[in-house]
Amino acid sequence: MESPSQAPHSGSSLWKGFLLTASILSCWIQPTSAQSDSFSVVPNPPYGTVGSSVILDIQGLSQQPPSYTWYRKAVIPSNRIAFYHVANGQLTASDSRLNVSSNGSLSISNLTLSDTDDYFVQLFDPTSSEIVTAQGHLAVYETASKPTITANSTNVMENSTLVFTCNTEHEGMNILWFFNNKSLSLNEGQYLSDGDLILTVKNVTRKHAGSYQCEIWNPISSNRSDPLEVTVNYGPDDILFSPSPAGDEIRVIFQQSLTLVCQVESYPPAQYEWRVNVTVSPEFTNNTYIIQNVSWEDSGQYTCLAWNNVTELSVSKAVTVRVIEQPPEGGSGSSLSGGAIAGIVIGVIAGVALVGFLIYFLFFRPSGGASEHHDTEHKSSAPNHRQTNSDSSPNRTEEVSYASVNFNAQKPLATAQLPSHTDTVYSEIKKK
Ligand SMILES: *[C@@H]1O[C@H](CO)[C@@H](O)[C@H](O)[C@H]1NC(C)=O
Ligand SMILES: *[C@@H]1O[C@H](CO)[C@@H](O)[C@H](O)[C@H]1NC(C)=O
Ligand SMILES: *[C@@H]1O[C@H](CO)[C@@H](O)[C@H](O)[C@H]1NC(C)=O
Ligand SMILES: *[C@@H]1O[C@H](CO)[C@@H](O)[C@H](O)[C@H]1NC(C)=O
Ligand SMILES: *[C@@H]1O[C@H](CO)[C@@H](O)[C@H](O)[C@H]1NC(C)=O
Ligand SMILES: *[C@@H]1O[C@H](CO)[C@@H](O)[C@H](O)[C@H]1NC(C)=O
Ligand SMILES: *[C@@H]1O[C@H](CO)[C@@H](O)[C@H](O)[C@H]1NC(C)=O
Ligand SMILES: *[C@@H]1O[C@H](CO)[C@@H](O)[C@H](O)[C@H]1NC(C)=O
Ligand SMILES: *[C@@H]1O[C@H](CO)[C@@H](O)[C@H](O)[C@H]1NC(C)=O
Ligand SMILES: *[C@@H]1O[C@H](CO)[C@@H](O)[C@H](O)[C@H]1NC(C)=O
Ligand SMILES: *[C@@H]1O[C@H](CO)[C@@H](O)[C@H](O)[C@H]1NC(C)=O
Ligand SMILES: *[C@@H]1O[C@H](CO)[C@@H](O)[C@H](O)[C@H]1NC(C)=O
Repeated sequence: MESPSQAPHSGSSLWKGFLLTASILSCWIQPTSAQSDSFSVVPNPPYGTVGSSVILDIQGLSQQPPSYTWYRKAVIPSNRIAFYHVANGQLTASDSRLNVSSNGSLSISNLTLSDTDDYFVQLFDPTSSEIVTAQGHLAVYETASKPTITANSTNVMENSTLVFTCNTEHEGMNILWFFNNKSLSLNEGQYLSDGDLILTVKNVTRKHAGSYQCEIWNPISSNRSDPLEVTVNYGPDDILFSPSPAGDEIRVIFQQSLTLVCQVESYPPAQYEWRVNVTVSPEFTNNTYIIQNVSWEDSGQYTCLAWNNVTELSVSKAVTVRVIEQPPEGGSGSSLSGGAIAGIVIGVIAGVALVGFLIYFLFFRPSGGASEHHDTEHKSSAPNHRQTNSDSSPNRTEEVSYASVNFNAQKPLATAQLPSHTDTVYSEIKKK
């Protein structure tokens, strides 16, 4: 690498002139030279990229000075790197990668990381008649090549420790970690070390299974590793039965079917064994036990055993199945109980509507087409009435009351007499 303090090109009379001019200038300027706030050196682009070039612009200059002298690191004669004389366009540079354009900006081509430094330009400002020095900083970065991610294992047991390493040839890069494409937030038992290049996850849980990536970045570039898939083996820890037992018991109606499912969380998926009372049922080898047509002898204790051949954990749980008699027919009234309370209240109002209905028939419609509807009415409501008569349970009473709610709700009192509405109402009662 060429260094800025390297000896200038031999035998150059131009260089001698540069040195002479510079030393005269520095002797002359030392007392009045000012590091001006109004002038600055600004890299363009703001950051250098290894192998490409950058221009260090002088900002704040309103009038062309007679010459420009560039320094690196410090404004001392041994650190001069370029001198440019505007009048004759003569350039003296310590390095072939340097050039100064007519407006004084310094270009550096074929950048290397070691070009990172402070740069200074000194010039005579005709506006203020002063020698001024402007300063700027150049930072050169490498474009990030793709890092790789490794782990000490990609198939781990829950509760073990995982160590990920982000491998990159670059130095001084910033590191980011990603889990399932999202920026990783470190929880308890997770930490970064070695300049964030190493991620340690202690007490791995099933939630840590997924894809891991690391990304390296600097101000000019970033690059992310391919994902690394991690598998976590866990469980089974606990069994849940479906249907869920009431207490420890599942009731099943005689001659109906029973599907008993035993659910566990496990990776890899668990293997299963069922026992009835104490006998293994070899025909059931997954988490589902089915009896198509339950008989009285099917009562007993059903045990589900689940095991994971990787974690070598197993769990078993028993449930008592009790076969019960078919409950008596006609339990459907319970579905209406929700409307019962409102029904009792509104039933009274419905009574008023019925009175209005009767008044209409007695005084305004003594005969005619309505009779047909009247018949239909009776027919459709007949089963309901019969039920009401034969069953004096509170549920039945509620059903009638609820039906009255519909009767009332479907129309205002003034139109209650319309036979078609009446039909609708009664057919609804029948459905329920
Ligand atoms: C400096 O740049 C000028 C034009 O901007 C060009 O003509 C000249 O050849 C360059 N000098 C060097 C040493 O690259
Ligand atoms: C100076 O000249 C260079 C190249 O000619 C140009 O890229 C740069 O923008 C100019 N700087 C200013 C401050 O005008
Ligand atoms: C850039 O630098 C490399 C090595 O540092 C060198 O081989 C190459 O010739 C240089 N290119 C220019 C244009 O200076
Ligand atoms: C990442 O680096 C690889 C080379 O390692 C390169 O081919 C790729 O373009 C880079 N990706 C980005 C986004 O810079
Ligand atoms: C991990 O630890 C928990 C709590 O100590 C335990 O319940 C579980 O079975 C363990 N998992 C494995 C795979 O050993
Ligand atoms: C990974 O490395 C850590 C630290 O060296 C160690 O404690 C852990 O057991 C290793 N995990 C596996 C799955 O090998
Ligand atoms: C992550 O993102 C990449 C591309 O953005 C996509 O192909 C991949 O399916 C995503 N993975 C997950 C786990 O979301
Ligand atoms: C990790 O597991 C160890 C032993 O199993 C326990 O002592 C420790 O508290 C656990 N740490 C966390 C962060 O869960
Ligand atoms: C359980 O195994 C039976 C056959 O033995 C099969 O028909 C059924 O689909 C399996 N159920 C599940 C959940 O795998
Ligand atoms: C169940 O079995 C009994 C006698 O074994 C039979 O009468 C009945 O029809 C069966 N029920 C069903 C739903 O298969
Ligand atoms: C299980 O045992 C009980 C008595 O302990 C018996 O009534 C029942 O029939 C047995 N169930 C089966 C399926 O063998
Ligand atoms: C676990 O069981 C599965 C299915 O029977 C089998 O494919 C696998 O090889 C077994 N693994 C171990 C570690 O025994």
